[in-house]
Amino acid sequence: MQIDPKNDIIEVDGVQVSYNPDAKKIYILLNKLPGYLSACVDSRGVPTIMDLLPHTGERLFPVGRLDKDTEGLLIVTNDGDLAYKLTHPKHKIDKTYLAWVEGIPSESSLEKMRQGLELEDGMTAPADVEIVNFTDHISRRNTSGISTCLKIVIHEGKKRQIKRMCYAIGHKVLKLRRIQIGTINLGDLKPGKYRYLTQEEVESLKNISS
Ligand code: URA
Repeated sequence: MQIDPKNDIIEVDGVQVSYNPDAKKIYILLNKLPGYLSACVDSRGVPTIMDLLPHTGERLFPVGRLDKDTEGLLIVTNDGDLAYKLTHPKHKIDKTYLAWVEGIPSESSLEKMRQGLELEDGMTAPADVEIVNFTDHISRRNTSGISTCLKIVIHEGKKRQIKRMCYAIGHKVLKLRRIQIGTINLGDLKPGKYRYLTQEEVESLKNISS
């Protein structure tokens, strides 16, 4: 529903929701740690990304959530228009992930991911998928044996999409890291750290054409 922010009052269960269109826009790039929820509110003792961020006095929210056990790039902002642009599937903004999966996927199963897979909530759009390397042991889930690091680029944001895509070809995801959204790369930002996006970076996101 469209609202008129100057004249409408918005309430949820009788509590007025504050909305200040003139609030200073804030854009933060966070390298999320696994074990943190992509939530902005109290989460009954579970750490949230807010524990990793500065206190800005603004109502911030993550642009496209990451699962609790997923790590990597998260943009956190109070700019609803940009968040909408980056997350709505119609804009087809690329999101790049590194996924460490159990075993070695065959070329034919990778091709299925590239073409689009049937998940319980429908077909996935074609994805870019390439093998980055093979590794011996991923310790986080205490599994042993060969695992494969895949670089996967998707532009949708279905719930747990990467994990479900990998599972659909028979490979469990052991570790998942997002490394890029649109024009913004995680770069060498250390795990658990954040930085503010530069004006140029914000403009580059706003200017991505869909
Ligand atoms: N895909 C997933 O499976 N999990 C995430 O956190 C992000 C994308």
